[in-house]
Amino acid sequence: MKGLILAGGTASRLNPLTLVTNKHLLPVYDRPMIYYPIDTLRGMGIREVMVILGGRSIGDIVELLADGADFGLDLTYRYQRGALGIAHAIGLAREFVGDDAFCVVLGDNVLQGLALQEVAEAFEAGPYDAGTMLYQVPDPERFGVAEFDAAGALVGFEEKPARPKSNRIPIGVYFLRPDAFDVISTLTPSGRGEFEITDVLNHYIPLGRLFWHEYAGTWTDAGTVESLLHASTLAANHPAAPE
Ligand code: DAU
Repeated sequence: MKGLILAGGTASRLNPLTLVTNKHLLPVYDRPMIYYPIDTLRGMGIREVMVILGGRSIGDIVELLADGADFGLDLTYRYQRGALGIAHAIGLAREFVGDDAFCVVLGDNVLQGLALQEVAEAFEAGPYDAGTMLYQVPDPERFGVAEFDAAGALVGFEEKPARPKSNRIPIGVYFLRPDAFDVISTLTPSGRGEFEITDVLNHYIPLGRLFWHEYAGTWTDAGTVESLLHASTLAANHPAAPE
């Protein structure tokens, strides 16, 4: 499997912290934020990784990560012009991915305490075209939100709904196959002008091709001032996932 880390976007929710630097370079406890998605992919046994870059100071990210050898990774980079959304950023990796299954991790997601190698292997070997992990949060309106029917089956995801239909959200770890690039090319921008990952996931639900798993480790994003603080506390108090 290949890996993709998304480190584009504008990070305006973190101003003034991100006025002159890239969000993914900000400290989360004792390390730059982007080290955490790197750990998540390494924990799956993935070695070939592309980083999608955008926004400010992207040269500093390349200087920090270089060719990836210090992390045991083979790293390449691609530039995203404009913050057109997570699905758009993924679409830039088509040639890099080739015929392989791949895992996308959002550059501001901090996962601690559970390596995901078995989940990645189950996806790759299984009959699914897409996968994600759900996590219970107190503020689902900030995220994509899962909706379930009366029988408990997942029926869809809504991106940042004013009235969330559950408190379970897809975290920023997505398992996909090259088929996703065709799906992405049919998408239109959402009301907020972005190509949404939740639209990609929704495509696969009625087809019975979406795999989902309850994430049993500890998770947060780090894209707001409050969640950035929380991410540091979490990283300080939970051991990183074993490799
Ligand atoms: O963290 C999980 C959530 O992430 C999901 O529940 C949502 O469904 C998903 O849309 C996403 O929501 P956010 O609003 O938190 O995403 P954000 O715009 O903060 O972007 C997350 C990361 O993705 C960010 O660290 C950089 C990268 N990104 C984002 C955009 C919009 C890109 O590389 N390019 C982009 O155009």
